[in-house]
Parts: sequence; C-alpha cells; structure tokens
Amino acid sequence: MCGIIGYIGEKNPVDILINGLKSLEYRGYDSAGIALKNNDQIEVIKSIGKIVNLEEKIKNMEVIPSNLGIAHTRWATHGKPSEKNAHPHTIGKITLVHNGIIENAEELREKLKKAGVTFNSETDTEVVAALINKYYEKNPVEAIDKALKEVKGSYALGILFQGDNDLYAVRKDSPLIVGLGKEENFIASDIAAIIDYTNKYILLEEGEIAHITKDKVEVTKDGKVVEKQVHETDLERAAKDKNGYDHYMLKEIMEEPVVLEKTFKPYLEQLDKLPDLTKYEEIHIVACGSAMYAGMIGKTLLEEYANTKVEIDVASEYRYKNIIYDRKTLVILISQSGETADTIAAMRKAKEHNVETLAIVNVKTSTIARESDEKIFIEAGPEIAVATTKAYILQVGIMALLAYKTALEKGLVKEEHKVLEEAEKLPRLIKEVLDRREEYQKIAKEIYTSEDIFFIGRKIDYATSMEGSLKLKEVSYIHSEAYQAGELKHGTISLIEDGMPVFAIVTDETIKDKTVSNIEEVKSRGAKTIIISNETWQNQKLQVVVPKISPYFQPILIVPTLQLIAYETAKLRGCDIDKPKNLAKSVTVE
Ligand code: F6R
Repeated sequence: MCGIIGYIGEKNPVDILINGLKSLEYRGYDSAGIALKNNDQIEVIKSIGKIVNLEEKIKNMEVIPSNLGIAHTRWATHGKPSEKNAHPHTIGKITLVHNGIIENAEELREKLKKAGVTFNSETDTEVVAALINKYYEKNPVEAIDKALKEVKGSYALGILFQGDNDLYAVRKDSPLIVGLGKEENFIASDIAAIIDYTNKYILLEEGEIAHITKDKVEVTKDGKVVEKQVHETDLERAAKDKNGYDHYMLKEIMEEPVVLEKTFKPYLEQLDKLPDLTKYEEIHIVACGSAMYAGMIGKTLLEEYANTKVEIDVASEYRYKNIIYDRKTLVILISQSGETADTIAAMRKAKEHNVETLAIVNVKTSTIARESDEKIFIEAGPEIAVATTKAYILQVGIMALLAYKTALEKGLVKEEHKVLEEAEKLPRLIKEVLDRREEYQKIAKEIYTSEDIFFIGRKIDYATSMEGSLKLKEVSYIHSEAYQAGELKHGTISLIEDGMPVFAIVTDETIKDKTVSNIEEVKSRGAKTIIISNETWQNQKLQVVVPKISPYFQPILIVPTLQLIAYETAKLRGCDIDKPKNLAKSVTVE
C-alpha cells in the first residue's frame, strides 16, 4: 500500500526521494508526489501513474534548491487516483504525506469546513493537515500531539511545517521507521526505501512523535522523551536486485530451494525449537490471502495426521466475529509482512481475551512479530514481487513441521526417520521441479487466451488448488476459481464449456478415486484438463508430475509448478507481473 520516504541532510533530496519511492513501488500505488522545502518555500510536484512520470516531470522543470523533503506513493482509498488526490497535501502551514485511513475524516471535515477551512481533494489526509494547522502556533510536536488526539484510524505521517526547518513523523497502526545516517536522517515506511544510504534505523511505536534534524532524532510520547533502540538491518542491498531474472516473481520462485533449506535447518537439527501445540485444546489459524491458504494446508495436516482440532478463518472476518474462546486455545497468525491490518487486529483480539498467540512471520521488525507472544520467523528474506511465492512455501513448510512435531508428540508417527529424511531432500526436489520451465511454458500456451479457469482438488489438494487459482488470477488477470472437486456439480459445473481449462490437483491417495470421477465429469462436458500430480497419468495429454514425497511436504512440490504456470501465463499476456493492477504488497488498511 502507500509508501513514505523523507529526507533531511546536506544533499539535494530529489534523487534520494525518487530512488526511495522506486524501492517502495512493490507495495502497490497509483500516483506519486514529492514536496521539497527551502526555508519557507515549499514546492509540491505530483503525478498519476508510475514514478517515472513524476521523475520526468521533475526533470523538465527547475525545482527549488533544498535539503529537506518528503515523498509518497498513493494507493487510492478515499477518492480516485488523480493529481489532486495524490500526496503531499498542504493546508495552511502544513505539508504532509500519509499512509493509513482516518476513520472519522468526514465528521472532522464538516467541523473544519464550518471553521472556514477549504479542502482541495477528496482525501481523508487533508483533514489531518488541517487539524495540525489549527493547533500549530510555534511548536510542531505540540500541534501534532493535540491534533492526533482528535483523529480516529490508522496513520503514518511525514510532516513539514512553515516557520520550521525540521522533519516530523508520527505513526499509529501503520509502520514507519526513522533511518539514521551521517549528517542526514530519513523516514520511511520500510527499510527497503533507505537501504542504499543506511542500515541503521529506529522503529517508531504507536503514538510516538519523531522530531528529526540532520544530526539528531528526538522521539517523544505524551510530551516525554522516549529512549529508542537503534536497529541494524541484515537486508542486503543486493536483495533488491533482480539478479538477472526478468521479474522479482521469477527470482523469488527460484530462491525457494535455498530459503527452504536455511529455514528448515535449525528445526531438522532440533525439532524442539518449535512450540509445543499439544498444550492446547484448540488451534485457530488466522491470516489473509495466500497466507490463509498456507494455513489451510496446516489445518489439513494437523487434523489428518496430528488429530488436532483446528479452526481457520480469514482475518477480516475473525476480527469482527463472536469467537467463543472456551477451551485452551492458541491463535496462529500467518503473515509475510507482519503488517496486514486485519491480521494485526485478529492478533490483538486474541490478546484482549488473554488467548496465546503464535506468529509465523517474515519481517522481524513488523508489528505482528513484535506483539505476538511466540514467533517463528520464516527467513524468506525480502519478498518484492506483490504476489507471494517463496514466503508462501516457507509458511507451508513451517506448518508442515509443526503438524509433524505435534503428531510425533502424540505418538501418531509410524515412520519418523522417513519423514525427516524426506524433509532434507526437499530443497533438491524443489529445484528439480523448478528446472522444468519448458513444461510450464507449454501449459501456459494452452491456457493463456482463456477467460475462465477452474482448479479442483479434495482435502489438502483443495488447499493447494486455492493457492494455484489465486496466483493465476492475480498475475494474469484471468478469472479463476478453485472448488472442492466434489462440490463442482452442485452448480458451478454449468459453467464448464468446450476447451475450458480445469486444473486437477491429485496427490492425496486416500481420496484419489473420488477426484478421478470428478475429472471425468468435467472432461465429458468438454473441459481441457491439466492434471498436477505425484504419479504419471495414462492417456492424459496435459500433466505435470512431481516427485512423490511424504504427504506433509507434497504441497511444497506442487505449488511451485502452479506458481510457474501463473508466471508464464502472465508473461504471455504481457501483464505487469511484479506489480499487478489494484494490488498492494502490504495491506496496511482494512
Ligand atoms: C497473494 C498475496 C496476498 C497475501 C496477503 C497477506 O499472492 O501475496 O494474498 O498473502 O495479502 O499478506 P501477509 O502475508 O503480508 O499478511
């Protein structure tokens, strides 16, 4: 979602801000803007569409000399993408950029209008600028503090004040860091934006206000100075490069064998490093999108092999439902970014009910990683492509190990050594699967002109179907749906037409025969079936066969094939693979 970068120092900020915005592109956006400040002169430049449009605009004009600026990529929430709605916004003496959503914007707007304020955009952001302006006399921190007491919702703000030459920042429920350089400091919504200049940063906590000069950062909360810990990121600059691949999505898929090996190593050496799930009478898995589908695999494995009661829900539902916590429950939150607004809210709900939480998370400094009681880091490294690939595989991997450990503790595992040996083989086997790109290209050629594509599977194969379908639709824009194979004939089968692609995932031997009947049902209605399986199918033209492995890990060999088919299909359709339209990497608003 929206991205923020700000700079104060000795240099001209234009290149630094534009470069930072480009590093935030992966979060998703539809317009961009920049504000440069030189004493009381403030120049705001905005443009819709890609950052190169903003860059071009700046190149063709003479911007004011400056050493202080803020910049923003906007993912529209209030008001359509337009220059008028793009940030930064200026009201009176205040110019600011904002990530998040102001929930009482309309109520505040009406009050401010009555007091004579004129608004220029449809955004909720301008309301915050107007409020800060209302309270600003001489002291920026005091004005921010007073204004935000009236604001409901989420925000990360970078703020400039006329009559003051420093940079100010504040956050609530939306991430923001302060980067620490030499005679220069930064603000950013994530470290990727400033990694080319510094690896040191401080994390702003809820309600903390940062007053930033080129050589000092003072953080206060409720008027009191807060001592902040300085963090160093291990993110390497190189991680931001495509490493010779055409797209980050492809690069990240190809990294799966290496990251899986690294993530599994400590647990395969000592399974006890994983939490003990047998202490709980019930497990809730809560997440969004692909992370939820990784959770579905975890649920199936825990139920099937570890005889464990598991409920699963999407976080946007869970947070508002009447959840009955009447048994000893663990809530598992799965999130790559650790900043997904709904997943954070679900975690906080569990904590309010004194229910223990376990986060399976990638970004170590994220809100979910910091607030959850227990955490398992999936160690995917930075994931830049909007569509998750390697992080999903690692989420599934951790869920599989948790299910296996739980089954072991309950005495339900018969061939203990076989499972662990197979886990060790996984990186090599994934690589084998990834190396067969021509097969995926061939399937992509068969499907890329289709308007609708279905995925079917049962039990764990249904969970992998969900991810296959999501990956395909989000990057190729082909309408796609996944169904439990047995459910299709209760309505959806009426949509099957001659030549319509239907992917069938068939790996679970216990239910295979049933899925075979469902494949026949769609075939006899003209569907072009593509079978993704762990055994060879006679008389089946389109099929992908992956090595057969313990059922705990089978999805980890199936899903990479679906990721690559989605990738190749999107490529044939000329889609913007790393930044699909309307999507954001980190969904920080609900
Ligand atoms: C799909 C995708 C999304 C995310 C979802 C949750 O490819 O990436 O569905 O899985 O938005 O995001 P995180 O894991 O950051 O909570």
